[in-house]
Amino acid sequence: MSLWGQEGRALRQRAVNRVIQARFVLGAAAFVTALVLSTQASWWLSFIVLMFVLLAVVALSATLPRNDNPVVSPMNDPAIFRLSGQQLAAQLPDPLIIFDHEGTILYVNPAANGAFGPLARGGALLLHFRAPELQAMVQSVMADSAARSVDYAERVPVERWYRATVLLLDQAGGSDRQYLLSFRDQTEAHRLERMRSDFIANASHELRTPLASLTGFIETLRGPARNDEAARENFLEIMQKQAERMARLIDDLLSLSRIEMKAHIAVKDEVDLTAVINHVADSLRPLADEVGVEIERNIDPDPINVLGDRDELIQVFQNLIENACKYGQSGKKIIIGLKRNGEGIKATVQDFGPGIPDEHIPRLTERFYRINLETSRAQKGTGLGLAIVKHILTRHRARLIVRSRVGEGSTFTVVFGLQKI
Ligand SMILES: Nc1ncnc2c1ncn2[C@@H]1O[C@H](COP(=O)(O)OP(=O)(O)OP(=O)(O)O)[C@@H](O)[C@H]1O
Ligand SMILES: [Mg+2]
Repeated sequence: MSLWGQEGRALRQRAVNRVIQARFVLGAAAFVTALVLSTQASWWLSFIVLMFVLLAVVALSATLPRNDNPVVSPMNDPAIFRLSGQQLAAQLPDPLIIFDHEGTILYVNPAANGAFGPLARGGALLLHFRAPELQAMVQSVMADSAARSVDYAERVPVERWYRATVLLLDQAGGSDRQYLLSFRDQTEAHRLERMRSDFIANASHELRTPLASLTGFIETLRGPARNDEAARENFLEIMQKQAERMARLIDDLLSLSRIEMKAHIAVKDEVDLTAVINHVADSLRPLADEVGVEIERNIDPDPINVLGDRDELIQVFQNLIENACKYGQSGKKIIIGLKRNGEGIKATVQDFGPGIPDEHIPRLTERFYRINLETSRAQKGTGLGLAIVKHILTRHRARLIVRSRVGEGSTFTVVFGLQKI
């Protein structure tokens, strides 16, 4: 520390203040010393030396470190001062292992035993963790004492992803060295990342298929079919359908992203569900007629109000009724119901088509999930409809329940909790 720097200046100021504060004590000391020494011959010399020493002691006392820590009562004493390192490690949610210079396990916290265990004290760390990347990291840290991290995956019993870090615990030499191996669970982040890349792969694949077909027809029209009037008409019609399919897919993707962005904004408009469902059923009449399905309504005439976004709720029932018409058309009939009882509001769309096998039901709301790709494509489906429904219902604090029996049909129920409007 330099006496002429910023800190030095503060120190000098403190020393001067200390002398000023002690001026009365210094005065009294000078008076008494002069009185005591006045009997000697060269008393003034001793007096000056003594006063100089006294002044130095007072000034220097200002430079001694002050205890800035407030006195803490046991009531507000932070737990970290009371607990031992082992007690703290035992409470950490992240797995943590301490091992020595030979890789022998010295301590395992309960989180590590839960995640990888049981791990015995005295066991060999590298016999338990055999992943090459982890072994290489442990050996490198033992060699040069520099902390390192790697990504590490446990595949059994369920796949889990961790960021593992090894560091030297203290600077003790040789055989006293101890190392800390800690794990941070990254499974959720990994799952989201995988979902994101699957989504991009699916979306590009869905767009690439019609695009490849369009490119193929353009080449044929410019080449072999250049002068074939009949083929041209036929190809242009197919091209138009493919272009429409791409436009539908992009609309659905945009719709999904808009709804995701609004997910945390609460809905606050009052919407009459009776009117919404009747409106959607009316607008889908042409589709129902086209596929030979009769729409039966079991809807109370009175308005049933919920807090919601009208356009989004229209989208929900449009997809559910459209699905019932498209995929349940063999049942020839669908029943749309709306009821309010003591527990809440239930809207149902029931069809009598082929039904949905149990194993598909939990996955229906995944993006691009289709039970039968060809049937869905033939029905101009993108596989995004129920994913959009799920997002909209989450924003509306409502649930989608799917019940189905193969060969008998399916019922999609939207349940709104009771709301105070
Ligand atoms: N009522 C139903 N009966 C039988 N299968 C159904 C029914 N509703 C949905 N499915 C199945 O669930 C899949 C996903 O439906 P979803 O509405 O998400 O997509 P889509 O209808 O294929 O496309 P989009 O709704 O975007 O036009 C459908 O492809 C179909 O296989
Ligand atoms: Mg659909």
